[in-house]
Amino acid sequence: MANVVTDPHVRPDVIIPDLSKPDPAVTFARDDIAFVYGTKWKQRYFTKVGDDYFPLGAQWDITNKVWRPYLVAPNTDWWVPFYPAQNSGRPTGPLCDGCHSVNYDIKTKKVTEWNVGCEKCHGPGSLHVQRRTAATIVNPAKLDYVHANDVCIQCHSQGQPLKNPIEGRYYDWPTGFHVGLDLKDFWRLEDHKLGETTFTHFADGTAHKNRMQGNDFVQSLMYTRGITCFSCHDVHGTQNNADLIKPPANLCLTCHGPNSPNGPHAPTVEAHTHHRAGSPGNECVSCHMPRIEQEIANVNVRSHTFRFITPGMTERDKVPNACTGCHTDRTNEWATAELKQWTPHSPWRLD
Ligand code: HEC
Ligand code: HEC
Ligand code: HEC
Ligand code: HEC
Ligand code: HEC
Ligand code: HEC
Ligand code: HEC
Repeated sequence: MANVVTDPHVRPDVIIPDLSKPDPAVTFARDDIAFVYGTKWKQRYFTKVGDDYFPLGAQWDITNKVWRPYLVAPNTDWWVPFYPAQNSGRPTGPLCDGCHSVNYDIKTKKVTEWNVGCEKCHGPGSLHVQRRTAATIVNPAKLDYVHANDVCIQCHSQGQPLKNPIEGRYYDWPTGFHVGLDLKDFWRLEDHKLGETTFTHFADGTAHKNRMQGNDFVQSLMYTRGITCFSCHDVHGTQNNADLIKPPANLCLTCHGPNSPNGPHAPTVEAHTHHRAGSPGNECVSCHMPRIEQEIANVNVRSHTFRFITPGMTERDKVPNACTGCHTDRTNEWATAELKQWTPHSPWRLD
């Protein structure tokens, strides 16, 4: 997995935008930046005051190549009411660093290392350094599906610690947890009531924003059948986008196909998708993982419930669906009418 936190004094080229070009949103200078977060979707900048880091007021939207203001607004993240209204009152220690470092110590505010290091997924490593055997390290592949997925869900989820505040401060990450313990004793996933569209969820329970792959995946049948995040991703790095084990077009077919008991239950892939081979409309991820979860502005990442969201759900509940996400010149009624003629899908499930 790529680095998220970088010190620009060590790597000056990490800063993507040209800070010498003035922009009304940018009220800080290069010298104010002690840390840079992010290289893929958005880049945020932090300044150091005492032994804490605080966000600066502008972020770079990498895809659209524009500056946008950065201040977490009221009625968004659950922690906003417990913090001052300005960035200068919102340190990264309680709000970010548990997920962006290894062993962030809430007393000393020190880390063993920045970014997602080995110990975050393999558990404490000191014994392993003394004695290099399989018994002294956690191999996530040997855990049951709940603990295996929790290795990733500890960071890839929106939630709240069970104990909060801790010594007067509200934390936004599973304080006290490390691999080898039970995540459920430290963390609960963000609540959602069916039918409500919130900052975190669409009305059907699909995630609305980024970093919610865990909240989504626990809803999938695949999760209960023992599939894990690392059935599809290899976090030690691959040549594919998002560290996928195979490109999306082949990945799903490892376990799925017309003759597989896992489905889809149709004579050919094309008979299931009703799009020709080679069409973007024939790719599993196009319909089962639409890009509807917001990273920044109009830049979205893919849903991980793997559920097919119907055009009818878009009409009723404002959950975006894949069909009219691609066929932008058509209506949801058109898509529903087409779908209802698609055999062998059940028309009763496609309203
Ligand atoms: C983000 C989580 C994560 C991080 C960080 C991570 N690993 Fe892993 N590692 C896993 C998972 C999950 C598996 C099991 C599945 C697999 O092999 O992909 C694994 C498997 C391994 C294995 C194979 C174990 C075996 O017995 O087959 C080795 C070796 C390993 N990791 C070493 C490392 C080292 C060294 C680092 C740090 C440089 C590291 N990992 C960082 C998640 C992680
Ligand atoms: C310590 C927190 C942490 C843990 C544990 C963790 N991740 Fe991540 N993950 C991150 C962060 C932070 C990023 C963003 C990195 C960046 O922007 O460069 C990320 C990015 C990713 C990406 C996107 C990479 C890309 O280039 O698009 C994937 C896929 C991913 N993680 C999968 C996993 C899986 C699978 C596991 C469990 C085996 C896991 N992560 C465990 C924090 C974590
Ligand atoms: C519960 C764990 C967690 C917390 C808390 C957290 N992050 Fe992250 N962050 C992640 C993960 C996981 C990703 C990558 C996955 C994604 O964005 O969907 C990520 C991604 C990011 C990215 C985008 C990276 C890129 O390359 O585009 C930025 C910037 C970022 N985080 C900054 C912050 C800041 C600032 C805070 C505190 C205000 C924070 N994060 C709090 C886990 C966390
Ligand atoms: C069945 C396969 C599968 C499983 C299981 C899975 N993912 Fe993914 N994931 C994908 C695919 C496919 C993509 C899209 C990559 C692309 O668009 O190039 C993706 C994308 C991502 C991204 C990058 C954001 C984006 O949408 O581009 C992150 C982060 C991520 N997954 C994390 C996770 C985590 C954490 C878990 C477990 C909670 C998980 N994934 C489970 C297949 C899977
Ligand atoms: C490692 C094997 C594996 C991979 C890879 C995999 N799946 Fe699955 N999938 C399963 C299993 C097992 C089931 C459960 C089948 C059953 O019990 O009927 C399942 C079920 C499903 C279902 C129906 C259940 C539900 O939750 O709606 C969908 C849809 C699905 N997978 C989509 C995908 C997509 C899309 C991909 C690729 C991004 C993918 N799968 C990759 C193993 C896998
Ligand atoms: C054009 C959209 C579309 C594409 C592309 C697509 N699906 Fe589906 N899929 C659907 C619809 C619609 C359903 C029915 C949903 C329901 O019954 O709730 C479905 C249901 C499923 C199911 C559960 C029912 C069954 O037949 O077993 C599985 C498994 C599945 N899809 C897997 C896949 C896989 C694997 C791919 C890629 C080879 C894929 N789908 C590509 C639209 C699509
Ligand atoms: C990833 C983009 C994508 C998605 C998602 C998608 N389609 Fe398509 N669709 C296409 C493309 C491109 C074509 C043009 C012909 C081809 O490539 O097969 C097409 C062709 C069609 C056609 C025949 C031509 C026409 O416009 O009348 C129908 C009907 C159709 N799609 C319906 C649907 C429905 C219903 C869904 C949702 C279940 C859907 N599509 C999802 C991209 C998509």
